[in-house]
Amino acid sequence: MDRIKLMISMRSEIRPPSAAFTEKDMPDLTGKVFLVTGGSSGVGLELCRILYHRGGRVIVGGRSEKAFQSAADNIKANPASDLGNCPKGSLEFLYIDLSDLMTVKPAAQELLSKINRLDVVWYNAGVMIPPVGSKTKQGYELQWGTNVVSHFLLNRFLSPLQTKTAESAPANSVRTIWISSSAHHFAPDPYGINFGDINYEHSKKKPDPWMTYGQSKVGDVLCAFEYAQQVSAKGIVSLSLNPGNLKTNLQRHAGSIMRLFSFMLFPARLGALTELYAGFAPELTVKKGFVYIIPWGRIGPLNKRVRLGLEEYGTSKKLWAILVKETEKYM
Ligand SMILES: NC(=O)c1ccc[n+]([C@@H]2O[C@H](COP(=O)([O-])OP(=O)(O)OC[C@H]3O[C@@H](n4cnc5c(N)ncnc54)[C@H](OP(=O)(O)O)[C@@H]3O)[C@@H](O)[C@H]2O)c1
Repeated sequence: MDRIKLMISMRSEIRPPSAAFTEKDMPDLTGKVFLVTGGSSGVGLELCRILYHRGGRVIVGGRSEKAFQSAADNIKANPASDLGNCPKGSLEFLYIDLSDLMTVKPAAQELLSKINRLDVVWYNAGVMIPPVGSKTKQGYELQWGTNVVSHFLLNRFLSPLQTKTAESAPANSVRTIWISSSAHHFAPDPYGINFGDINYEHSKKKPDPWMTYGQSKVGDVLCAFEYAQQVSAKGIVSLSLNPGNLKTNLQRHAGSIMRLFSFMLFPARLGALTELYAGFAPELTVKKGFVYIIPWGRIGPLNKRVRLGLEEYGTSKKLWAILVKETEKYM
């Protein structure tokens, strides 16, 4: 019942107004370098389509080269709409399995060996409501490990290059974007992270998968917030977003009830516009600092409990310290 009330209160995220910032607002991206994790499907693929057809060098992080090749063929054959005749960029595959922390350092090293700038990163890959008990190679709850811990570790490796890029890039153009979800509202009480047992290893009851997915999406928000506190002064914009409710492969683990609601899902391109806005809208600045973006590209409200946790209970600092400690041995 609470969730139904919540969904009613979120109607502008569920039935968003038209996007104000679209492909046609994009500058020529020739010479810029981008990383999109999970760019071989869904929202990430549609984002890569726009970046590529605007001339960007696009690195696609994923665990299947075959899926990347098929995405790249699709992107090259089907230009983004509204772009007119633009120079094409490039698409490159970067192997990374976010459910295995051991793959993160080699991926980061490979990436850093071939690029000398990194303009915008979208930590976009994600998994939603897999069977309860699913774990990463290192034993993290699968959504927590994939959506949060691995991206956090990857960011530790990429942060120095983004900092260096920001020294000479146009102001506010270097950005780190942590993809969250409206499901962050479903995260556990009181402030969205169950700090006593993040992986729900010790709870007697099976955790609700929506709650653990929501917790992972709060994790992304807290990382974006805390990172913004650390890097705004260095010229990096760090923010988080809900891309919108979209028809993608994300629902692969959802049961028949959720499939009944599929009529409420929008084309993945619209989610890509939310991510595009976060990556390029001129009004998002280091001065403004952390913001939370909602579909299809507007500044929106965070969940009240999550906001309170950030502002009054230092949840982002606490999480950051935990993640630094836990990822140290994979550096
Ligand atoms: N769709 C929605 O309605 C919605 C709503 C709110 C937020 N989001 C968020 O938007 C982001 C994009 O999701 P989407 O809707 O585009 O779903 P999607 O089509 O399933 O795309 C997710 C991508 O993440 C990749 N991925 C998953 N686990 C991975 C791993 N261990 N290592 C490397 N890559 C991995 C997937 O690759 P594989 O094919 O190899 O699994 C896939 O390319 C996610 O963070 C999601 O939480 C989506």
